[in-house]
Amino acid sequence: MIDLGGGVLLYREYFDREAQIALRDAVRDIVLQAPLFQPTMPKTGKALSVKMSNCGALGWVADRQGYRYQSRHPVTGQPWPTMPAMLQELWVNVAEQAPAPQACLINYYEPGAKMGLHQDRDETMFTAPVVSVSLGDTCRFRIGGVNRGGATQSFKLQSGDVLVMGGEQRLAFHGVDRIYPGTSTLLKAPGRINLTLRRVHEEPVETEQRLV
Ligand code: SIN
Ligand code: FE2
Repeated sequence: MIDLGGGVLLYREYFDREAQIALRDAVRDIVLQAPLFQPTMPKTGKALSVKMSNCGALGWVADRQGYRYQSRHPVTGQPWPTMPAMLQELWVNVAEQAPAPQACLINYYEPGAKMGLHQDRDETMFTAPVVSVSLGDTCRFRIGGVNRGGATQSFKLQSGDVLVMGGEQRLAFHGVDRIYPGTSTLLKAPGRINLTLRRVHEEPVETEQRLV
């Protein structure tokens, strides 16, 4: 584990190849039930370059109405699929003191996709860390401090890596500069999957039942 300071921890290849395959297959099952959707920026309606889905009691969505968490898929209207046990175990291992995660955002990056610097701040509690898992092609990840415009550093995230942003850096600006297509054989097509686990509220969220 590499301690990047301020509560940012990087676990290189936390998931070995076998575990990455199991996670990839779990994500495939999730997106069959909760298809990737196209998020847009609330003010402009401009599409983000990533596609998204979620699992867990809550999912993060972005559309004309804003950025928010909701318990149902924005297109199908169905509750999100449950969070795989492997991810719940990961959380217990790296975010010990925090109550269980309530949301897992699934970001899918095609080769040209990226994500601008932003803070994860749509939650109502910030004592739990953000735990992120990388699968598939390597990316260049960038992280700064809690103020926009401050110094940033960047490093590559590879398939199986886990990054924890907690403590002072829970609200750090971060983003993805680029994907390096063809650096992993985990996914069928070039691209990258990022899974981001979060505790959203101090209070528990009741899990909704799927209707079909
Ligand atoms: C995110 O900040 O939502 C995604 C970060 C990543 O893809 O590594
Ligand atoms: Fe983020």
